Amino acid sequence: MSKAYYITTAIYYVNGQPHLGHAYEKVITDVIARSRRSLGEKVFFLTGLDEHGQKVQQAAQREGKTPQAYCDELAVDWLKFATTLGLTHDDFVRTTQPRHRAVVQAILARLHGEGHFYVGEYVGWYSARAETFLTDKDRRPDGTFDPEYGDVVELRENNYYFKLGVHQQWLIDYIEANPEFIYPDYRRNEILGFLRNNTLEDLCITRPASRLGWGIPVPFDPAYVTYVWFDALTNYLTVPAALGDPGLPGWLRSAAGAGEGAAPGPSLWPADAHVIGKDIVKFHAVYWPIMLKAAGLPLPKRLLVHGWWQKDGQKMSKSTGVIVDPVSVVADWGLDAFRYYVVRELDLGPDGNWTDAGFESRYNAELANGLGNLVNRALSMLKKYRGGVVPARHDELAADAAEAARGVEQAYREYRIQDALVQAWGLVNRANQYVDRTAPFKLAKDPAQAARLDEVLYNLVESCRILAVLLWPVIPASAEKIFAQLGLSGQPSCFAESAWGRLAAGHRVGDPAPLFPRREPAPTGAAPAHPAKR
Ligand code: ME8
Ligand code: MG
Repeated sequence: MSKAYYITTAIYYVNGQPHLGHAYEKVITDVIARSRRSLGEKVFFLTGLDEHGQKVQQAAQREGKTPQAYCDELAVDWLKFATTLGLTHDDFVRTTQPRHRAVVQAILARLHGEGHFYVGEYVGWYSARAETFLTDKDRRPDGTFDPEYGDVVELRENNYYFKLGVHQQWLIDYIEANPEFIYPDYRRNEILGFLRNNTLEDLCITRPASRLGWGIPVPFDPAYVTYVWFDALTNYLTVPAALGDPGLPGWLRSAAGAGEGAAPGPSLWPADAHVIGKDIVKFHAVYWPIMLKAAGLPLPKRLLVHGWWQKDGQKMSKSTGVIVDPVSVVADWGLDAFRYYVVRELDLGPDGNWTDAGFESRYNAELANGLGNLVNRALSMLKKYRGGVVPARHDELAADAAEAARGVEQAYREYRIQDALVQAWGLVNRANQYVDRTAPFKLAKDPAQAARLDEVLYNLVESCRILAVLLWPVIPASAEKIFAQLGLSGQPSCFAESAWGRLAAGHRVGDPAPLFPRREPAPTGAAPAHPAKR
């Protein structure tokens, strides 16, 4: 069976509230997944939740719940969030699922058996009150720890360590030989710089169960649970293994419950892309490849590392009220407006800055007056002047449409999803200018121009149809509305349909309806629409 294009998001800490950064990562991953499907690839898209660790255990305790019950409740909200964002994920992994526990334990047992671990002493500052380790970085300027930590003692405990250092040179060589492994370039250079200038410390991969119960038990030593990052990274293997991926070794598949006799599942591993934020590159570019190599498994093909969002130039934080709530933006402006803005505003890589004014400005200029107006004008004029019946094919904008389609396809293939929108808007703007230049409303008044009017109308409605296909990965619901308004029964979800001339003469379109209604600036905020009179 041919391998599917396998793409993942990070898995989210279950006890955090879904915010703009999470929404962004999920949306860009969905855009990439949809674009690959549209281009004809079989795709498997995985997202999920990171549910173990001290913070979850403590939060559950505070609420008088078992950690599992606490996670189960929060998982409902996260699943709803995925639906709100229109995600097309194929599975949703939770690190408390038995299939995940089994895979983590199988990998731990494997690495232990092959001598990758040893027991060593962990020495660190420990706050019993906060049940947390502290480092010298946590000291206040005067050298003391915050009194909220209570007594901070130097704690010594034994743990299992993973020998990372022996793989350091191999990893440097690997990243140098595979420049596409970390995208964009500057993130690769940061990791290479780090690896060349530092000696990798061995990774502590356990915590004593007596101190932290909420984790996956270490299969060869019941006194310990698994360190959360070792647990979390493994999620990317859990679902392929549990589904019986024939590309994975039998010991891993059978551990995950895909038994010997079971029919082979989809071929997924190695992942084609892990989409992650810049703060967790080291885990994915250093620990994860070494874990995989030690387990004898192939490495993912690519890490796509996105930047962080701020709001109005400040770090988002609930306590300062500097926050963008994606759910309320979606409720207020519509899902596609949200998806469009985050993809158009921020390229995959650098940091971004959300401003409400910027959002409204793109909404009005690019969606309402740009795409929305084009579709509305094209369909209204076809209705009014030709009873909604498509005239004979004419190719005046065919070259522009082909150029846009080529540019958009290339951009999707190369993960330049912001540029895909720039390329598509080349056609939006070209077609809107075409309306202004050809002035169909004037042509309609002159019977001698009837043939010319037919030509213009064909070019306009065909451009709208093609735009729906090009834009479907980013704004699927609007693209589907364009198809419905064009009276087309199919979906705009197949890129090959962007070829010019598929709209047939004599086809009758449906009724136009505004895609993105124009909006006045919001009444609240720093710059009131109607300043108070003095
Ligand atoms: O780190 N802008 O989970 P998480 C953009 N469980 N992206 C942001 C962001 C922001 N302001 N804030 C967070 C974890 N993110 C681990 C991952 S993966 C095996 C385990 C991104 O809930 C962040 O960069 O803290 C990360 O990719 C994702 O949200 C989840 O963050
Ligand atoms: Mg985080």
